[in-house]
Amino acid sequence: MHYHILTLFPEMVEQGLDTSILGRAKANGYITTEAINIRDFSDNKHKHVDDYPYGGGAGMVMQAEPIYKAYCSVEEKILAEGRKKPRVIYMTPQGQVFNQTLAQELAKEEDLVFLCGHYEGVDERILEEIVTDMMSIGDYVLTGGELPAMVMIDAISRMVPGVLSNEVSGEFESFHDNLLEYPQYTRPVEFHGRKVPDILLSGHHANIEKWRREKSIERTLKWRPDLLEDAVLSKKEQEYLKKLMEQ
Ligand code: ADE
Repeated sequence: MHYHILTLFPEMVEQGLDTSILGRAKANGYITTEAINIRDFSDNKHKHVDDYPYGGGAGMVMQAEPIYKAYCSVEEKILAEGRKKPRVIYMTPQGQVFNQTLAQELAKEEDLVFLCGHYEGVDERILEEIVTDMMSIGDYVLTGGELPAMVMIDAISRMVPGVLSNEVSGEFESFHDNLLEYPQYTRPVEFHGRKVPDILLSGHHANIEKWRREKSIERTLKWRPDLLEDAVLSKKEQEYLKKLMEQ
């Protein structure tokens, strides 16, 4: 997976993506990241990339031309390397809300371009010209698209084969079967008087698996009941849920 991030703050993006599991994934060649500074494509002698909005109003608007040139430099390289025209994702609270299903879908792409806006927004014409997807990471407004792009890159990269070690496949965590994750414990057996549930010490794998599924269902019902509508449950688990709901 090759990520290309069009931004006014390349250092922020590069630093954020160089640490921990993503840093390792880069070092091992599973993903590449390239932050392109939109300012480098400004023709203006002061390297300005924004201007006042036509029609008036507060704030500044990012101009189409430098973004377009920055994008063209990326597209040219991708095509020259023999890959197809990439999807271009504009980060905006007005976009489709990102989720695990989208992370899985996007992880199948070879290249992804992220356009990070700032100020009051970007000239509408650049969206019409180059953008294929508009995405939001939630219903709140941030100061720019960099953090949202980094959030998406993290979630997508976990779904790229090889990024997580084999034993912790991304599929088996929260949102697998649309359920929240079961509670986890490690040593010691007792902490501040709270004991690890006996069943986890029993060594009985089938019972442990059943208990974990039940805990997942309980948690989902308590904290994210909206997820249950699309949860993948066996007949027995459906009965278990029904009983919980009657309590
Ligand atoms: N830019 C500003 N706020 C945002 C959000 N919530 N999601 C994506 N991009 C944004």
